[in-house]
Amino acid sequence: MKALVLAGGRGTRLRPFTHTVPKQLVPVANKPVLFYGLEAIKAAGITDVGIIVGDHGPAIQSAVGDGAAFGLNIAYIEQHAPLGLAHCVMIAQDFLGDADFLLYLGDNVIIDGVGPLLDAFWRSRPDAMVMTGKVGNPSEYGVAEVGPGGVVTGLAEKPATPRSDLALVGAYVFTPVIHQAVRSIKPSWRNEREITDAIDWLLRSGWRVESHLHGGYWKDTGKAEDLLECNRAVLDTAERSIKGQVDDTCVIHGPVIIEEGAQVSGSRITGPAVIGVAAVVRDSQVGPYTSIGADCDIAGAAIENSVVCAGSTVRGSLRNSLIGREAKVSGDIGRPASLVLGDHSQALLHGAAS
Ligand code: TTP
Repeated sequence: MKALVLAGGRGTRLRPFTHTVPKQLVPVANKPVLFYGLEAIKAAGITDVGIIVGDHGPAIQSAVGDGAAFGLNIAYIEQHAPLGLAHCVMIAQDFLGDADFLLYLGDNVIIDGVGPLLDAFWRSRPDAMVMTGKVGNPSEYGVAEVGPGGVVTGLAEKPATPRSDLALVGAYVFTPVIHQAVRSIKPSWRNEREITDAIDWLLRSGWRVESHLHGGYWKDTGKAEDLLECNRAVLDTAERSIKGQVDDTCVIHGPVIIEEGAQVSGSRITGPAVIGVAAVVRDSQVGPYTSIGADCDIAGAAIENSVVCAGSTVRGSLRNSLIGREAKVSGDIGRPASLVLGDHSQALLHGAAS
């Protein structure tokens, strides 16, 4: 069993972030999204991994390297343009050979990982297995219709009138017959070879596709609000750990992680929250549900339900915000601001009275 991890794509829904950083490297609880997937793959016992990369390939390669840090052997496969998930399978055929493989979308976080999916696949060994999760708003997802014994009988992409509440989660297991499928389908209206079309081709050609229902949390972090929600879910699993310095005037409440070299003074930190390596937090309120990246400089600030990436400076009040690397936020609008700010950006907040 090999794994193919998709870390190319356009990332249009996460602009302006994705102008400078691939969405798979945006941090959730101070760890790049992609690392959750790679750790899940390793935990499931797979070691041969191909990563599809696009324009941001060099950044992905410098963050992940040859995979040794994860206990993985990683090969990189370049996709010259984001021509679809099934196109990724096409260009990875030499890497995949005749192995069964896990297809993992590199912007997805699946708490509890992919072990249960692989166990289910090995138990019945269908021709393909999709991971599904129950959702309240199936019209916003690719949806699987599933019959007795978990057999998939149909798929629909963002259906107006969904016939099931089972959304496709970003992990699939395929046998080599998928190579025939991805070559047999045509690009869709958006000029992408869609993996749902390839699975639909399997169904129509009489191959057996099964669904594995994932009961736990998962998230496609392709949009800012989803990234913040995922940050909350992952922080909810955090345990208190204080490695940096915290002075006597601080109040630290709940599951708070203060990483090595961080310095916190005169502040209230309400968990779940994480303060990154060598970050400085002075006279501020941080949390709950907030990740402050490494080397940030936070002073006179109140930050709630937000992700602030490495090296940023914040003065003022933020809520529901996603702040890129080495960005600067200052000023006051008399209430918390909600910002999505790309790397190296500046926001000067002025209230009506100022
Ligand atoms: P998507 O989120 O479906 O596509 P996208 O990255 O183009 O995003 P947006 O809609 O915001 O423009 O992709 C799912 C995962 O697959 C993600 O990690 C990117 C990756 N991917 C590729 O590697 N190659 C591709 O051709 C596509 C479409 C996606």
